[in-house]
Amino acid sequence: MRYTVNQRVIEYRAEGERMWGENKVLLDVADDLIRETTWSAEGFTVAPITRSPSALLKTARALLQECWHLAGLAIPPDAPAEHYHRFANTHEKHLGAVNFTKLIPIEKFPLGITAIEDRVAEICGIPLVAKNPFDQQSVFHFRVIRPQTGDNNPLHRDVWLEDYRDCINLYIPIAGSNSLSSLILVTGSHHWPESNVQRTTNGGIINGVKFNVPAVTAISGDFDIVRPDPSAGEALIFSPYLIHGGAVNLNHDTTRISIELRLWRR
Ligand SMILES: [Fe+2]
Repeated sequence: MRYTVNQRVIEYRAEGERMWGENKVLLDVADDLIRETTWSAEGFTVAPITRSPSALLKTARALLQECWHLAGLAIPPDAPAEHYHRFANTHEKHLGAVNFTKLIPIEKFPLGITAIEDRVAEICGIPLVAKNPFDQQSVFHFRVIRPQTGDNNPLHRDVWLEDYRDCINLYIPIAGSNSLSSLILVTGSHHWPESNVQRTTNGGIINGVKFNVPAVTAISGDFDIVRPDPSAGEALIFSPYLIHGGAVNLNHDTTRISIELRLWRR
């Protein structure tokens, strides 16, 4: 798969069997939580989610330090989170730490989950809750992408995994998120039929690293890649039906960390 972002051509090769999808739009049979918004055609927006951006960052970074400490990663308490890659300087150390920064119970959400649920509900005009109806889990994750590495997952739709149907996604910047590292989206792709997209049949394997979700391997026709850059205290809110990912961190010495959170209709 080849795409251009930040005026750079990015290319990855996914191993394994590939398929073109059926002539069906997955969103047509879904609970489309952004249907009534002014940004439903694009599939995403950037909006403020807290009145206390600095408190959100401070609380999130303290929680990260706690996770890294539990993972046995020796990061000095005063080291900026953006310097994570200087300590997690091998793939093994990074994967060890990732095990502790994912699937975090929602009770630990910085500044409390209720305020975020209410704010995004207001934006979408639908009551929302951070609870997955498919497995009853209430969790969030830190996504940690070291600079100039293959830490980022490939382009994908979350809904190729059944557990993520009917939700709304949030990307909340915590450290090192900027125009060279933030999430990449393919505008309007949530309305495409599956026949527009070739993907791996199972989870994508890229450079020997296995991802849960299938990877996009080709797109038929033209497509628009965007890289919104939400500020501290804002979130990138997007449909899980939208093709996204492939967000290589093009910074040289800055780790990008974001919170990944999903909400469903309450
Ligand atoms: Fe995703």
